[in-house]
Amino acid sequence: MSNPYLTENKQKFLDELFELLRIPSISADSACHEDIISAANYIKNKLTEAGAENVELCETAGNPIVYGEKIIDIALPTILVYGHYDVQPAVPLELWETPPFEPTVRKTKIHPDGAIFARGACDDKGQVYMHVKAFEMMMNTNTLPCNVKFMIEGEEEVGSANLGTFCIANKAKLKADVVLISDTSMIANDTPSIDCGLRGLSYVEVEITGPNRDLHSGVYGGAIANPINMLAKMIAGLHDENNRITIPGFYDKIMELNEDERNELNKAPFDIEDYKTDLGIDEVWGEKGYTVSERTGIRPTLDCNGIWGGYTGEGAKTVLPSKAFAKISMRLVPAQDSESITALFKNHFIHMAPPGIKVEVRPHHGGEPVITPTDSPAYLAAERAMETTYGKKPIPTRGGGSIPIVALFEKELGLKSVLMGFGLDSDALHSPNEHYGIVNYFKGIETIPYFYKYFTESFPVKP
Ligand code: BES
Ligand code: MN
Ligand code: MN
Repeated sequence: MSNPYLTENKQKFLDELFELLRIPSISADSACHEDIISAANYIKNKLTEAGAENVELCETAGNPIVYGEKIIDIALPTILVYGHYDVQPAVPLELWETPPFEPTVRKTKIHPDGAIFARGACDDKGQVYMHVKAFEMMMNTNTLPCNVKFMIEGEEEVGSANLGTFCIANKAKLKADVVLISDTSMIANDTPSIDCGLRGLSYVEVEITGPNRDLHSGVYGGAIANPINMLAKMIAGLHDENNRITIPGFYDKIMELNEDERNELNKAPFDIEDYKTDLGIDEVWGEKGYTVSERTGIRPTLDCNGIWGGYTGEGAKTVLPSKAFAKISMRLVPAQDSESITALFKNHFIHMAPPGIKVEVRPHHGGEPVITPTDSPAYLAAERAMETTYGKKPIPTRGGGSIPIVALFEKELGLKSVLMGFGLDSDALHSPNEHYGIVNYFKGIETIPYFYKYFTESFPVKP
C-alpha cells in the first residue's frame, strides 16, 4: 500500500471503526434511539477532528442527518458524499458466531487477511468510515483537491422517509457536482466493479382474515377457508410456471435491454458453482430465459420476506386461525415505479382472494429504480481510481439492492451518483455474521482520494 499516512494509521483507522460498530444504531428498533444519536455524534466528531467545517446533526422528523463540509474554493468541483450510519436489526442473534456489536476479526476463505465481523461492518458503517478517513488523510497530507460535503443519514434501512424532505428543503446547502456513495458491492477482491444501476422497491404488508375468531381446527376444519392456507396459495400464485410474476401489467413499463447490452452485462465473471456452494443450494431459481446476473440486476422480482399467523409456540395447538399475515417485497427496474406497482399488486391480490376471505394490503416504503451513467466524468474518475489501486479496470454491473434516495438525488437535486462500493455480496449484509474485509476497508480508503483527484482534474475550469 502506497500512501504513508494510511500505512502509519492503519491500527487507529481500525480502532475507530470498531468503536462505531459497537454502537447498535438499529433504525428499525425504537429502543435504539440513544444509540442512533451516539452513532451520529461519533461521525460528527470524527468529521470535525478531520477538519470538516459546519459539522452538525440536522434534525428531521426521524433520525438526525450528519452534515459537514470543507469548501476550499468555489471555483473547484464539489463532491457530495452520501452514506448511512443506521444498521439492520441483528436478529436472529443465536446465529452469530460472535456478538453483532462486538466487532471481531476472523479469516475467511474469501478474506484470507481477515474480515471484521459486526452488524454494519459492510452496510454501511465500514464503507462510510472509509470516506471519513480518506478525508482525514487528504486534509493531513494537504492533498484535498476539491470541495466536499458529507451527508450521512440514519434512516436508510427503513426507507429514508425524512431524507427526501431534507434534500428538498436544503437544495442550496447540498449544491454539488456529483454524489459519491460507497454502499454497494463489487464482484470480487480481484475483480473490481462499479454498480451502474439499482433496483427500486415496492414493499407491502398483507393481512388475510377468515372467520371472526380463532377456531377449533377439528370442529370447524374442512368447512372454512383457512387464512394461512389461502395466503400460502395466493402467494404461490404470484409466480407462473416460468417463474414470471402473474400480476397483470407488472412488466408493462420495463425498458428491456437489447441483445448487446445483455451480452455486455453477462461478460462480468460469475461462477455459478461457487455461488451455489456458498449458499448451500443445489440449484438456482428464477425467471425463465435470464441468467443469474440478469435475474438480480435487470429483472424485477417478488418475494415474501416474512409470513406468520396461527400457533407457532411449543408443541401443538389445534387451531384454525382467524388471520394470516405476510410481508412482500417487489424489486423494480427502470422504468417501473413503486406507486403503480404497489397499486397493481393491491388490486390483483384482493382479486385473488377466494370467497370467505378478506384481504387488506398496506403499503410500506418504496423507492424508484435508477441507472447511473457510465460515460460521465464522475464515472470515468471512479473507474480510473479503482484501476489505479486494483490494477484492473472495474466492470460496470447492476446492483440488485436498493438505495431509494439515489433516484431522488437526481429528481430533486439534479445530481447523478457514482456507486463506488467496496463490499462483496457474500459479506452477509442484513444476515447473521455480516463482515467486511480489512483489505476492502483499506483499499477503499486508498481509492477514494484518487476519485477526488481524477474528478477534479476532469472538471472544466470555471472562469
Ligand atoms: N446498501 C444496501 C443496498 C445495496 C446492497 C445495494 C448491495 C446494492 C448492493 C442498502 O443499505 C439496503 O439494504 N437497502 C434496502 C432498501 C431499504 C429501503 C430498506 C434494500 O435493498 O433492501
Ligand atoms: Mn446500505
Ligand atoms: Mn442495507
